[in-house]
Amino acid sequence: MNRRNFIQVFGLGIGAVSLSSTIAGCTVTETTDDYGWNGPGPQQKDIRMQVLSYAILSPNPHNIQPWIVRLTGDKSFDLYVDPARLLPATDPFYRQIHVSQGTFLETLSIAATGFGHEATIDYFPQGIYGNQELLNKPIASIELIPRTDLSPDPLFAHLLTRHSNKREYDNRRLTEAEINTLRDFHGSDNSYPLSIVQSTEAKQQFEQILTKGMQIEVGDKGRDHETISMFRFNDDEVKQYRDGFGVSQAGLSGMKKLIVENFVLSRESVEKDPTAFGEQAVDITRKAAASTATFAWISTPGNSRLDQVKAGRDYCRINLKTTAMRLAQHPMSQVLQEFDEMLPLQARFKKQFAIKDSDTVQMLFRLGRAEATPHGPRRLVSELIRS
Ligand SMILES: Cc1cc2nc3c(=O)[nH]c(=O)nc-3n(C[C@H](O)[C@H](O)[C@H](O)COP(=O)(O)O)c2cc1C
Repeated sequence: MNRRNFIQVFGLGIGAVSLSSTIAGCTVTETTDDYGWNGPGPQQKDIRMQVLSYAILSPNPHNIQPWIVRLTGDKSFDLYVDPARLLPATDPFYRQIHVSQGTFLETLSIAATGFGHEATIDYFPQGIYGNQELLNKPIASIELIPRTDLSPDPLFAHLLTRHSNKREYDNRRLTEAEINTLRDFHGSDNSYPLSIVQSTEAKQQFEQILTKGMQIEVGDKGRDHETISMFRFNDDEVKQYRDGFGVSQAGLSGMKKLIVENFVLSRESVEKDPTAFGEQAVDITRKAAASTATFAWISTPGNSRLDQVKAGRDYCRINLKTTAMRLAQHPMSQVLQEFDEMLPLQARFKKQFAIKDSDTVQMLFRLGRAEATPHGPRRLVSELIRS
């Protein structure tokens, strides 16, 4: 039984609902259907809403959706970090949150091409801020310019299917041709270095590092609380919050999902004692790493807010390209996190893979093959927009 059938059988479907609201003086109609993954729908004529309906589908940590949009004109808006949607325990300097501003910008600029527009992006128009602070300044000003001479970016076709696939993979390496395709696609001119490894030795090292990373992350009250607060224990929570992640995204469906959600996991018991939940997270990480033969990362020589945003754009493009290539992709960020307890493992990881101490690994992910998983839910675009 797939997710849609499951929802229908148990009467939890939200159906397709058209909502109209007035935002910053303009009337916005949006179809809420399958938690955002049907795209804007043909009735949506506002180019800003069209591209934002895609942008909200961008990858982001814990599916927290840390974006605020302020409309500035008929075809323009500013993007901000949502200060109410941060992950300070696991992402203390908001690096991952800024990487996710980049995934959002990349998705919207690809989406714009699908509607005959070019998205011009002016980064940090009110000035950039330091990489350990978060100021109430826009990440970017975006203007959507109609262009009759523009063809849709080929990645546009994959915006509604891209996802982070957290299942176990089948342990097969990528072919040389696939690796070359990815390297050529990523290029070397304007992008940050992309490293891809798949030796037996690298695999063994990653199995250890990734498992250890999760062991370090769990078992701390603040970090556990942060993860549990974004975990969705059942479909009612998904419906209520339209963010976060749950067992569906790990590949559980049908009866298994029903049993786990009704008899194994409950918010009440996990909040009371997160030990078993943490052990599960370690076990899932160990199995995910052990099922994978190919690992990759994007690193930047600097670590400014702009580096983080641009690395997010690169990551998003690669995720869309692997979607086009029918490959699975999954970020595993624990070892990259900057809280003190993680730093020794991070140093070991860099040493083992000859990454300069001064470089920052912005995204670390596994690649392989696995059946698709259901999408993580998204909020309504109108919830991002502030006047
Ligand atoms: C900066 C960043 C860090 C992430 N880190 C992890 C991670 O450590 N583990 C994980 O399972 N997914 C990670 N993800 C993937 C998110 O969980 C995923 O993007 C989000 O749940 C939305 O799902 P989707 O990508 O399938 O649309 C990360 C994504 C981003 C952009």
